[in-house]
Amino acid sequence: MMMLEVAKCTSFVLILLLNVTCRESFASFHPIDNYLVACGSSHNVTFQGRTFVPDTEFEHSNFQIKAEKSLVVSSKLNNTLSPLYNSARIFFEKASYTFKIQQHGRHWIRLHFHPLPDSNHNMTFALITVIIDGYVLLDNFTFVNYSNSHLMKEYTVSVTSYELIVTFIPHRNSLVFVNAIEVVTMPDVLFPYNLNPSTPFTESILETVYRLNVGGASINAQNDTLSRSWESDETYFRSTITALNISTSVSAIKHPDFLEITAPPMVYATAKAMGSASRGYRLNWVFRVRPNLLYFVRVHFCDMISNTTNYMVVDLFMNGNRTTEIRVSGDFAEPYYKDVLFNATEETLTVSVGPSTMSTIENATLNGIEIMKFINRVDSVLTKSSERIQTNKKLKLVIVIGCGVFVLAFLGLSFRYLKSCRSKKNSVNAYEFLRHFTLHEIQQATKNFDAVLLIGAGGFGKVYKGKLENGKIVAIKVANPESRQGLGEFHNEIELLSGLRHSNLVSLIGCCNEDSELVLVYNYMANGSLSSHLYGRDFVPLSWKQRLGIGIGAAKGLLYLHTGAKQSIIHRDVKTTNILLDENLVPKVADFGISKKGPLLDKSHVTTHVKGSFGYLDPEYFRTKFLTKKSDVYSFGVVLLEVICGKPALDDALPTQQMNLAFWALSCHKKGTFHEMMDPYLTGKVNMESVNKVLELAWKCLEERRVNRPSMGYILCQLEEALHLELASDVLNNNKNGDSSTYASVGNGFVDDTEDVV
Ligand SMILES: *[C@@H]1O[C@H](CO)[C@@H](O)[C@H](O)[C@H]1NC(C)=O
Ligand SMILES: *[C@@H]1O[C@H](CO)[C@@H](O)[C@H](O)[C@H]1NC(C)=O
Ligand SMILES: *[C@@H]1O[C@H](CO)[C@@H](O)[C@H](O)[C@H]1NC(C)=O
Ligand SMILES: *[C@@H]1O[C@H](CO)[C@@H](O)[C@H](O)[C@H]1NC(C)=O
Ligand SMILES: *[C@@H]1O[C@H](CO)[C@@H](O)[C@H](O)[C@H]1NC(C)=O
Ligand SMILES: *[C@@H]1O[C@H](CO)[C@@H](O)[C@H](O)[C@H]1NC(C)=O
Ligand SMILES: *[C@@H]1O[C@H](CO)[C@@H](O)[C@H](O)[C@H]1NC(C)=O
Ligand SMILES: *[C@@H]1O[C@H](CO)[C@@H](O)[C@H](O)[C@H]1NC(C)=O
Ligand SMILES: *[C@@H]1O[C@H](CO)[C@@H](O)[C@H](O)[C@H]1NC(C)=O
Ligand SMILES: *[C@@H]1O[C@H](CO)[C@@H](O)[C@H](O)[C@H]1NC(C)=O
Ligand SMILES: *[C@@H]1O[C@H](CO)[C@@H](O)[C@H](O)[C@H]1NC(C)=O
Repeated sequence: MMMLEVAKCTSFVLILLLNVTCRESFASFHPIDNYLVACGSSHNVTFQGRTFVPDTEFEHSNFQIKAEKSLVVSSKLNNTLSPLYNSARIFFEKASYTFKIQQHGRHWIRLHFHPLPDSNHNMTFALITVIIDGYVLLDNFTFVNYSNSHLMKEYTVSVTSYELIVTFIPHRNSLVFVNAIEVVTMPDVLFPYNLNPSTPFTESILETVYRLNVGGASINAQNDTLSRSWESDETYFRSTITALNISTSVSAIKHPDFLEITAPPMVYATAKAMGSASRGYRLNWVFRVRPNLLYFVRVHFCDMISNTTNYMVVDLFMNGNRTTEIRVSGDFAEPYYKDVLFNATEETLTVSVGPSTMSTIENATLNGIEIMKFINRVDSVLTKSSERIQTNKKLKLVIVIGCGVFVLAFLGLSFRYLKSCRSKKNSVNAYEFLRHFTLHEIQQATKNFDAVLLIGAGGFGKVYKGKLENGKIVAIKVANPESRQGLGEFHNEIELLSGLRHSNLVSLIGCCNEDSELVLVYNYMANGSLSSHLYGRDFVPLSWKQRLGIGIGAAKGLLYLHTGAKQSIIHRDVKTTNILLDENLVPKVADFGISKKGPLLDKSHVTTHVKGSFGYLDPEYFRTKFLTKKSDVYSFGVVLLEVICGKPALDDALPTQQMNLAFWALSCHKKGTFHEMMDPYLTGKVNMESVNKVLELAWKCLEERRVNRPSMGYILCQLEEALHLELASDVLNNNKNGDSSTYASVGNGFVDDTEDVV
């Protein structure tokens, strides 16, 4: 029945290069790292639409296996589950697969197991332990009670080094095996924040435990552009009231290309709704969980019933505790998700939705549920049990300090969250979290406001480059005491910025409020503003790759402002002079002087006096005075034009019809002469497909009607796609034009871990 191959060797190293891109199966996302490995197989295996390559091909250097002794086992019988489960690699000692990582950031790791019948090796009884960098993914798993079944485990791992090592550990005198391994880059936009706000500086590994398509059939990996599997919710659904499956056509769902990433449109096109209802009734889904572990829960919604604001508002409950209110109605067929953290105290987790008191109708719907478990770090597997207790204690400590409640509406804004918890406890304001400088320290840092150190000035006051006592270079913004507007903006900036931490937002280090001087201290951005690199004289022009990297980073910063918080933040002054670049050209969005907290639940906009910068101002906002996130999107469209054209948004020196870049570009676009406006520095050096993608995006952002403008999430996806196109052609042409410029490491959307001077 069995075939044992002669691949028994001592200390062997297998190396192979796997196809990096996989265009055919990913409609809108091309993972940079994309390893699909069929362990122990002698030939390519197709599994759910993707090709898994044998680990025995050892021609290249992107991947290797380290093992003292390994054995290939394959079954001659065709496996009814899948050909992927026809072969396996067995290890008798600790062994590892090493994957070269090209793109830092989150990756999916999927492990496939199925014991093969074999007279010499009892795989069913094997105890399987798998670790990555001190995290135990699988702990002594065995198929003893699951013979003839297979196991697929999916993890989300944040990779920050150039290698990822997956280690398999057999139990004493036994063996360990694996059938297939996937290591695949995740799109950043899927989880644009640090998932656990309690530990802002580290990322744990998460294990996917449930992923449900509610109200519809299971969706297998083949029908998801990101190869996720979605189970039907039927086995988890428990409700005392009748429920209905409702659905709409997949083509009715808005923004399908963005969506394929958060969930396949099929997930948003089906839902469960209440059949009979009165307030107080809910739809419930019950899951088994492990007590004392932290879970990340994402719930997906899409209104299929109405498009009137507040027509349907649902409450979300975790084990009966109301966590958050969700306005489902508002944008018909516009998908929406909400993230919640849950600390399990019992063996079950019940997720429920019911009509909120704010809702016009007594109905509630839900489209999808994803539940992931945080895996704790264990430093040494040998001293595992004792270490584990310690690690748990540490984690508890952090969380107890962070917050005293079990269920936290996940705000994404880790610091904002800490702040609100702290302020509840201590009733302090935002200033508590900043370092307080004395005026003397500020004077020393700026050599008593030496004009030589002046790097900027405006209505708000002046900005100096300064050096703190510890040698750190900082930017020091001094308010103009005569300007009431300036003071208001300063307070606004402190209020907002001290609550935010993201690698693409400037970080406020401290402030000084002494002798009626109001001073803000920031990390110094060595490379100045994006505008100075586009049309200033100080710098060599940026390559297209660099421009895209900067655009992506800025988009991440804005996406975080727009969607990271329960109450989103509208920047209101997005422009190239407010996108600052650090020494590595990593962009940081700056200047929150006039930013606004976004609409509360009952409004979709905030009414304000029109503020902002000419050349970037959303015409619909200008007309209606209604401010929405889409006003930032308009301004970002102007930024994209500046990036393509290398021209300022507003240029008084030009004839009237050319003064406003956006208007001028749109009129040229209509006449078909836009190409003449492109930055001559880029001509001939770039992949036009990539430029055109960004240009198309800019036109969408500049749509007159804001409902037609895309979201920041969509923008981010498109820019990443454009970068991918450019990188791909760059690889092809590498030898031809010798463009060796690197593009900025755009951050991974996690919280900035610049050193704390507080
Ligand atoms: C196996 O798949 C890889 C990647 O898809 C491909 O490059 C290779 O040619 C395939 N090998 C065979 C023997 O089909
Ligand atoms: C197993 O399946 C492959 C491809 O589906 C086929 O070529 C082969 O003949 C099958 N082998 C057996 C023993 O059925
Ligand atoms: C595997 O080992 C267990 C216990 O040692 C035994 O009961 C079982 O029959 C063995 N299975 C095979 C396929 O050898
Ligand atoms: C795995 O299980 C075996 C047998 O139950 C036990 O002896 C061993 O200590 C366990 N290993 C770990 C790492 O927990
Ligand atoms: C397998 O099932 C038996 C009987 O239900 C149980 O006693 C045993 O603990 C199970 N083993 C494992 C490893 O789960
Ligand atoms: C809802 O759809 C699922 C999956 O198609 C099905 O199993 C279930 O019976 C349906 N439930 C109702 C109430 O129609
Ligand atoms: C999944 O994809 C397959 C082939 O691509 C298709 O035949 C099938 O209908 C799809 N399933 C669903 C639920 O759409
Ligand atoms: C909820 O909405 C669905 C879809 O429109 C509808 O079929 C159902 O009757 C509604 N339930 C209640 C209780 O109104
Ligand atoms: C909302 O629904 C009404 C009636 O069904 C429809 O006429 C209108 O176009 C919809 N509005 C939007 C923005 O979809
Ligand atoms: C959650 O609900 C349980 C019982 O339903 C209650 O004991 C507990 O205090 C609640 N927790 C919070 C944070 O409200
Ligand atoms: C979860 O809640 C329990 C119950 O109070 C608490 O003891 C534990 O420390 C919490 N765990 C974490 C990881 O926060």
